[in-house]
Amino acid sequence: MKDYLINQNWQDYTESEHEMWRTLFKRQEKVLEGRVVPVFLDGVRELGMAASGIPRFEALSDILKQRTGWEVVAVPGLVPDDVFFRLLAEKKFPSTCFIRKPEQIDYLQEPDIFHDVFGHVPLLINPIFADYMQYYGEAGLKALGQDCLHRLARLYWYTVEFGLIQTDEGLRTYGAGIVSSYSETIYCVEDPKPNRIMFDLKRVMRTNYRIDDFQETYFVVPSFESLFDATKAQDFHPIYNELAPLPDFAANEVLKCDELVLI
Ligand SMILES: [Fe+2]
Repeated sequence: MKDYLINQNWQDYTESEHEMWRTLFKRQEKVLEGRVVPVFLDGVRELGMAASGIPRFEALSDILKQRTGWEVVAVPGLVPDDVFFRLLAEKKFPSTCFIRKPEQIDYLQEPDIFHDVFGHVPLLINPIFADYMQYYGEAGLKALGQDCLHRLARLYWYTVEFGLIQTDEGLRTYGAGIVSSYSETIYCVEDPKPNRIMFDLKRVMRTNYRIDDFQETYFVVPSFESLFDATKAQDFHPIYNELAPLPDFAANEVLKCDELVLI
């Protein structure tokens, strides 16, 4: 199988690309305080990510390998599902190498290195979250070629990308799509508009999502342990079969059985 792996070629980043990282890093570091789960900022610190510039994947991987066995590998952009799942199952997190341009500071459609590395990598130092990511990859491999990948994509979207978590200090985010976005970091935990619903695996797997705006619904996990417990069976086929004849839910729908989290 073609693995899509490339070299990061760190030495080729220009000063203005490092400057873009610095701008994004400083802005997010400030806005995330009190809005992100504390272990995320621990991860940023322990991995040596800093405002100084774009990190080297080798340096991040050296620390990650010792802590949870993960590494960061460079890919040219979004990779096919089978490659993505296999890399995760092998504890390799694929990151793109390019960084957004100044005019894209607030939004770009395709993930860049700031989203992939700053957004995703800090939590890979957390053993439970790291295991969740690996199990997700294994579940993906088992689902390949079947009509259920959209259910796994929803699980990833509503946890890894846009998840919220309860902490002793209150509601926090941990999703990479949020922590790499200044405005959604504030919106997801402070704006009264979106629904915040306690995580339920089948509910999530039936729920559509928005890719063009802030989320209308966030799912809240009580802890990473509970997320991992709910998904570690990996073989979701009995659930896929159960859900197959049932209708999907709209991204903004609230059901009678939903357990709402109020802010
Ligand atoms: Fe992402």
